[in-house]
Amino acid sequence: MTPGSEPETLVIFLGVRAIDPSYHLDEVVDVVIEKGTITRVGRDAAAGLDQTQARVIPGGGLLLVPAFVDLHAHLREPGQEYKEDISSGLNAAAAGGYAHVCVMANTKPVNDTRAITEMMVSKARAHGGPSLHPIGAVTKGMRGEELTEFADLRDAGAVAVSDDGVCVMNAAVMRRALEYARNFDMPVVQHAEDHDLTLGASMHEGKVSAMLGLRGWPRVAEDIIIARDVLLAEYVGAKYHAAHISTLGSARIISEAKSRGLKVTAEVTPHHLLLTDEAVLGYDTGCRVNPPLREAEDIAALRRALAEGVIDAIATDHAPHSRLEKDLEFSEASPGMMGLELCFGLLFDLVGKDGLTLSRLIDAMSQAPARIAGLRPPTIREGALAELTLIDPGARYIPAEIELFSKSRNSPFLTRELTARPLLTMARGSIVYDRTGEKH
Ligand code: DOR
Repeated sequence: MTPGSEPETLVIFLGVRAIDPSYHLDEVVDVVIEKGTITRVGRDAAAGLDQTQARVIPGGGLLLVPAFVDLHAHLREPGQEYKEDISSGLNAAAAGGYAHVCVMANTKPVNDTRAITEMMVSKARAHGGPSLHPIGAVTKGMRGEELTEFADLRDAGAVAVSDDGVCVMNAAVMRRALEYARNFDMPVVQHAEDHDLTLGASMHEGKVSAMLGLRGWPRVAEDIIIARDVLLAEYVGAKYHAAHISTLGSARIISEAKSRGLKVTAEVTPHHLLLTDEAVLGYDTGCRVNPPLREAEDIAALRRALAEGVIDAIATDHAPHSRLEKDLEFSEASPGMMGLELCFGLLFDLVGKDGLTLSRLIDAMSQAPARIAGLRPPTIREGALAELTLIDPGARYIPAEIELFSKSRNSPFLTRELTARPLLTMARGSIVYDRTGEKH
């Protein structure tokens, strides 16, 4: 791990398969980076350069893609540093191939002020590595009543506002939030859950919850909020982003909103694309997540929506918890899974299935989320800042057997064999993660 601060003078990727969805690049090329800026991209682009002083990385059999951007992570600082902190979270992000991480406001205290937003940004800068972008709370204390000062949050570095973890239930508060955020061209990110419909629920409402005797969280609790918010966003003319959608109904509502030209976007997590509620059959609290794991028909609809671009982005919802919160009865355990280090490896296997192309997967993990957060999308073009991820597509590994940087281990995927692994990450023009020296 090298949380690099100074860009290397000259870095050369030689003969690497470079993929950049923004201009349909998928070609074996050399990519030359001088002092953090990409200066040449092309076949034999490094020929004739003095490579003796360069960091030369042979790219045979490897993929080079725009570095990933996570719209949704919980790094737990301030307040719950025993689960994760900004440094460990950014190290995990670098190992997962991320150059940018947007972090949610449900810290302790809640990030509802300029001071906390500034603290997060300055700690991240001091650490080095991927850039951290706070998402400030919509309402003070995330209590759903009084709006925070969006202008202050934005000036301190926030890229969006969200009460994620809790839904903004009051329609009048949501309307004002959309109106206020519109002034700054920031999206309001909603955790869509009608809390009256999910009272006491710990998993998806269906056959499995009935069998297990656990109270269920019906799909409609998500759909009803997304439908309402789409109407509000249309009325107000604001940007609305639906966090971690999990139901076929949400995908349908988002699709319809997009076809009417509304500024509505959505994200999905790896676990909602891969696991059904049957994963809960053994009462594995690692599978307790909010929103809950749904059914096969939801997965099919979410995968289709992702392939078609109806769901714009993949977000990890990296939600580290310690054993204290997970070694409990299912209904008592905290919801959430860690995800930054596993995301690409989990999803690479979906390429070629349900219409998902590698280019769409890369777009959904990099350029699309950057656009939603108002960041400059990472790209493999001459003149661009080097924000790149080098991937070994042939790597096969079991997460529990590799070095992980997150402080937590709450994931049902730790013992699953994954394919494809980030080997090197460049963020802010510097190498921030590098395993190219290891045998692979
Ligand atoms: O599973 C979840 N965990 N969903 C959320 O919305 C919040 C998150 C957390 O903070 O642990």
